[in-house]
Amino acid sequence: MITLGIDTSCDDTSAAVVLDGRATLSNVVHSQIRLHHPYGGVVPELASREHLRNIEDVVEEAFSRAGITPAELDGIAATVGPGLIGSLLVGLYYAKGLSYVLGIPLVGVNHLEGHILSVFLEEETPRFPFVALTVSGGHTSLYHVEGFGRYTLLGQTLDDAAGEAFDKVAKILGLGYPGGAVIEKLALEGDRGKIRFPRPLLAPGSLDFSFSGLKTAVSLFVKGWRERERQAIDISEADIAASFQEAVVDVLVQKVMEAVERSEVYFLVIAGGVACNKRLRGRLIERASSAGVAVFFPRPAYCTDNGAMIALAGYHRLSRGERADLSLDVRSRFPIDDLAPIG
Ligand code: KG4
Ligand code: ZN
Repeated sequence: MITLGIDTSCDDTSAAVVLDGRATLSNVVHSQIRLHHPYGGVVPELASREHLRNIEDVVEEAFSRAGITPAELDGIAATVGPGLIGSLLVGLYYAKGLSYVLGIPLVGVNHLEGHILSVFLEEETPRFPFVALTVSGGHTSLYHVEGFGRYTLLGQTLDDAAGEAFDKVAKILGLGYPGGAVIEKLALEGDRGKIRFPRPLLAPGSLDFSFSGLKTAVSLFVKGWRERERQAIDISEADIAASFQEAVVDVLVQKVMEAVERSEVYFLVIAGGVACNKRLRGRLIERASSAGVAVFFPRPAYCTDNGAMIALAGYHRLSRGERADLSLDVRSRFPIDDLAPIG
């Protein structure tokens, strides 16, 4: 079964062709980073216009790299939410048009389900049940995953997502958008123990996250640091980046390991853009292996937004008979609890 997956939930226009929900034949991503960079974040109106400009080329490129014609497709999967309404609309309505013209089934996919399942695009895959952390610019959520389509939310951010905190701190330091990779690179030259930023853990036992206080702490610190003339206090921008990153990683590692212990699982999956972070990867591998837990990270191209994870999630739904009709609409909010179980 050959599935086309389309994701336009935020600022990447992506389309991928996936065979039998496992083998990626093509995965094309048109990034809008350069467009949004000057604004320090995604501008929704610009994003949807850019999706509209590029969707056709991106889908055609996905067919040509996969070496197939549209007529060879068996089904189409498109992200319906959560995400930016204007962006989602472009991908979903393009998918609807294509499914109608080709006379093949369409299914709507929850973007978070795509991130949770993205690890199944890899050779090495976890066994159910596992704990999954999806950590990106839009979400920081922990799930107990019992099977395809069977997800229980264990905790989530009450304010900013972890990736959003990276982006905001990068903006405070004048490093542009997006911030994750830039902060990670800068942090390599810094001392992560130099500044003790707060580790927001919330109530004892809580698996929820909160990163807005940490962001404010960094912002206040930077203000004071600038006023007191940087060199005079022997703290570099790299020290700030490293100390901030360590605070985020500490919180993520602690909550993830608590979720793993409580759920009594032996497999752990970390997905979403922030899962590209090597310090997070290293710290988690260390903690998980000493607890006898196998940890799985999709490769970076499957961590950040991509069409392949949508094609994969869509394949599982389509192959169990799920079908969407042309009245299917987008949803800016789409909690995973609202998902119909697969099969
Ligand atoms: O999954 P993604 O591409 O899009 C969303 O669904 O949000 O994630 C993008 C987010 C951005 O906030 C970006 O700063 C963050 O992931 N990110 C990173 C790294 N690479 C991307 N954060 C920390 N370290 C990285 N290496
Ligand atoms: Zn995402």
